[in-house]
Amino acid sequence: MIETETNTNPLREYFEKNDKRLIHKWMHYFDIYHRHFARFCNRQPVVLEFGVSHGGSLQMWKEYFGPGARIYGVDIEPKCVHVQSDGVTVYIGDQQDRRFLRDLKSRIEPVDILIDDGGHTMKQQIVTFEEMYPAVKEPGIYLIEDLHTSYWKKYGGGLRKRRTFIEYSKRLIDYLNAWHIESRQVRVDDFTRSAYSMTYYDSVLVIEKAKMGPPVVRQTGNLSF
Ligand SMILES: C[S@@+](CC[C@H](N)C(=O)[O-])C[C@H]1O[C@@H](n2cnc3c(N)ncnc32)[C@H](O)[C@@H]1O
Repeated sequence: MIETETNTNPLREYFEKNDKRLIHKWMHYFDIYHRHFARFCNRQPVVLEFGVSHGGSLQMWKEYFGPGARIYGVDIEPKCVHVQSDGVTVYIGDQQDRRFLRDLKSRIEPVDILIDDGGHTMKQQIVTFEEMYPAVKEPGIYLIEDLHTSYWKKYGGGLRKRRTFIEYSKRLIDYLNAWHIESRQVRVDDFTRSAYSMTYYDSVLVIEKAKMGPPVVRQTGNLSF
C-alpha cells in the first residue's frame, strides 16, 4: 500500500474474512482495484472477469459493487458454470478464440469494468484485449493482471521479447500520445480517442477509457518581463 492510500479497503477486508468460494489474488492487487473501481460501487455496473476458477472473485465483485451490479465471468473450464447465481452469469469458452469473444460481446451489455485474470498467456491477453477493449464503455476500465507472465518463459514471455503483452502494451503508449507524433508511423486511432490513461503497477495495467479529443494548450496570467 502506498502512503496516500487509506487503510480501509473493503475488498481486502472481504478477502481476509472470506469463507465463501475460493479467491486467488496477489495481495497488492486489492489497493489497485479499490483505487480504480470504487467510483462504480452502488451504480449497477456491468463487470466482466476472464478467469472464474472457483468463483470466489465473482462473489467478491457482487458484494463490492452492490445491488443491481451485473457480474459476468468467462472460463474455459465447463465446471465453472456451477458458480452462477443471482446477478452472476458465467460463459464457457476460450479467451483466445475470437469467434467466441465476438459472440460473447453480442450477448452481454457494454461493460463498465473488464478484468483479465484468465490463462495469462501472451496470445490470450492480446486477443482478449483486441476483441474486448471496444466492448468497454467510455468511461470504463480495462484491467489486465498477472503481467509478470510477460517475463516468464513458460507463458511465452521473456525480457523485451516481441509479442509479449508488456511489449504490445508499450506500443499502446505511442497511440495514447498520437496527437503529438510527427511521424506518419503512428496516427490518431480509436485507442487515442478512447484511452484517458494507462497506469502500470507491478504485474497490472489499468487502462481508463473516456472520450478523448485533441489536447488543448492555453495560457492565463500576465507576462512578467
Ligand atoms: C487465476 S484463475 C482465476 C482466479 C479467479 N479470478 C479468482 O480470483 O479467484 C485462472 C482461470 O483462467 C482459466 N483459463 C485458463 N485458460 C483460459 C482460456 N484460454 N480461456 C478462458 N479461461 C481460461 C482457468 O481455467 C482458471 O480457472
